[in-house]
Amino acid sequence: MLTPATVKNVCVIGAGTMGSGIAAHLANLGFNVALLDLTRELVVDAFERATHARPPHFYNPDRAHDIRLGSISENLDWISDADWVCEAIVEREAEKKALYALIDPLLRPDALISTNTSGLQIGRLAEGRSESFRRRFLGTHFFNPPRYLKLLELIPTPETDPDVLLYMTEFLETFAARRVVLAKDTPGFIANRYGMWCMFRATHMAERLHLSVEQVDAITGPFLGRPKSGSFRLNDIVGLDVMCDIAANLIARCPEDAHIKTLEQPVSMHSLLARGWIGDKVGQGYYRKEGRELLALDLQTFAYRQRQELIIPSIVELENLPLGQRIRKALDLRDEVGEFLRGYLLPALDYAKYLKEEVSHSILDFDRVMEWGFNWQKGPFALMDEMGLSEPKFYTPGSQLGFAGEYLPIAAEPDYRPLTDYPVVREDETYKIRDLDDGVVALCISTKMGVITPLLVNQLISLLEEGSLTRFVLTGEAKSFSVGYDLNFFLSAIEREAWPEIEAALLQLHHLGELLEQTQAVAAVYGYTLGAGFELALSCSHIAAAAESQIGLPECRVGLIPGGRGTVLMRAYNQASPRRLMEIALNLTRATVAASADHARYLGYMRPADITVYHPDRLLVEAKRLALSALPVQRPVWSTGPMPLIGMIDRELDQALSRDELSDFDVTLGHKIKQVFVKATSYEDAVLRERIEFLDLCTKSFTHARVKHMLESGKPLRN
Ligand code: NAI
Repeated sequence: MLTPATVKNVCVIGAGTMGSGIAAHLANLGFNVALLDLTRELVVDAFERATHARPPHFYNPDRAHDIRLGSISENLDWISDADWVCEAIVEREAEKKALYALIDPLLRPDALISTNTSGLQIGRLAEGRSESFRRRFLGTHFFNPPRYLKLLELIPTPETDPDVLLYMTEFLETFAARRVVLAKDTPGFIANRYGMWCMFRATHMAERLHLSVEQVDAITGPFLGRPKSGSFRLNDIVGLDVMCDIAANLIARCPEDAHIKTLEQPVSMHSLLARGWIGDKVGQGYYRKEGRELLALDLQTFAYRQRQELIIPSIVELENLPLGQRIRKALDLRDEVGEFLRGYLLPALDYAKYLKEEVSHSILDFDRVMEWGFNWQKGPFALMDEMGLSEPKFYTPGSQLGFAGEYLPIAAEPDYRPLTDYPVVREDETYKIRDLDDGVVALCISTKMGVITPLLVNQLISLLEEGSLTRFVLTGEAKSFSVGYDLNFFLSAIEREAWPEIEAALLQLHHLGELLEQTQAVAAVYGYTLGAGFELALSCSHIAAAAESQIGLPECRVGLIPGGRGTVLMRAYNQASPRRLMEIALNLTRATVAASADHARYLGYMRPADITVYHPDRLLVEAKRLALSALPVQRPVWSTGPMPLIGMIDRELDQALSRDELSDFDVTLGHKIKQVFVKATSYEDAVLRERIEFLDLCTKSFTHARVKHMLESGKPLRN
């Protein structure tokens, strides 16, 4: 009997944008994935494009080789191996139905079968199929790109077995890193019915008010609590062809919808489609990429021109207010912002109220679709509450307003509870302690971007020396775990030639790391986990890393080597393999930052006891689970046997220099890393050597130039 935990083999059919993205996402998670398209040529071509997708589909490019590519004509028998068949072929009912007729007899009797349609009626797609097929069939609507958007709309038909629905929900949430929203089998479900309407509405309003694409994007981006892409960049990303297909389908299927006219083609979209300028897929739409530059379409003249960096005074004035307040104020403005929002946002909020019962099971589901699928900070109902527009309120603590006007409890979801929901039991300037229950607390770095400052180090040392904190999760309050040590400190100290000050800071950082090693701490890292931030994480007994973490020790970028024991710990944890150590020495010299947690493991930055947490909302709960049984760190005994490492590192550095991949100064840095890796006779000796080399670098003019350049421009200097 198949259970959510035993689903291992997945067959994805259709290797286009979505099929390839879904296949990559599932391969990232370790499933055995087969990907089929009409012909071998089509599948190979499509998949080749997918391996170069930007942003990348794969955590680690090597994973792409794990996907089996095949064709409907030659490899249909693969269907019988599948625990789950996920169809993602063209959005045409007849073709989907023909495919199902073909595979129905081949499916294993317990296999799941789903469609990734964006808006076809799921119930109709299953017509004519065996009863067993119909019981196991449902819609799994992924969002593009699947690696980055966690939402999945799950749509059962009246014939879907309720157990299949439960099972699929559990499978997707527990093993496939999705957050599931159950949607009704109505045209476009929740996301496309409402999301597409909002996208069309913004385009119509821009035309009506003669606003530029940059103006609208400035209003509908972070100012409204939405991604930077705003409206027109989003149109280009989704593709105007896809948008118009979805809209045409909605218009045809929703004749009763009083607001459906909004989905009629805006003039600009019509003209762009006629020219084939359908968005990012062809390099141009409302914007055009030219080299590294982005040109914007002038909606009046229909010519591309330099993109304007707009500063809209009312946005600057309001943008620091809380979301609800600033939008409320913006609605009263007499400028283009106010005018646009009155014509766009208010109708969009009204439309959500109009649609809610038809398309969703609750306002919470509706909001979640916009928050998880479109990255809106607040869905329309939560936003109306924040703006003080709704009476009665849609939400009260722990409950939501049901369609019949009564408040219904919102089920607690302890596995997904965000950090900010846990009470703060203690805090200082640089950290907060939150109670995670069960005797575990979270020690949260609260500096901007998790930057490690001398003050933070001292405050954490005092805290750990008190001895009351033993079992805890080390994490952060900012958007990233930590961007590393405060470079301003180094620049100032270097310019004052205050070497003892730098040495004292290093000693404090070492001391903090060693104190952490004696506790039972688990580091829960996410986003940038760099330099000293990563060194502290490596001092915990385990690292639980969110799949989307950029991990590394890129000190060489600023002319330094990892100096908070990073060089030493890399050596200690990888000493069993000289080859690995050589690769690490090169990667540290090149300042290679891993693009994901799994990539970090591939590069040798993670230890065997460290884990990747694939579900974007479960990092904390997984870290806490590890913390409950964590033991203090047992650093490996320093191996002092002869290593052929010197020659290996020298050779690689020389070759990289001759290929102009490294500068002379980079090679100097590489040699310093080598000194610590090779010459040190013990852990203590290695820590001392690391410090000596670091301090020596601080006196060099090229290091000063690199640090200064990084602080001034945010970019590394290659000198
Ligand atoms: P696409 O056009 O990029 O790819 C479709 C692929 O299916 C092509 O490679 C084509 O050769 C293949 N194909 C067509 N008929 C086939 C058959 N009978 N057997 C095997 N392969 C066949 O389309 P895209 O964008 O990937 O969309 C696929 C499905 O996902 C559609 O139902 C679409 O509505 C839905 N969807 C699309 C989203 C998007 O952002 N593009 C988002 C969510 C859902």
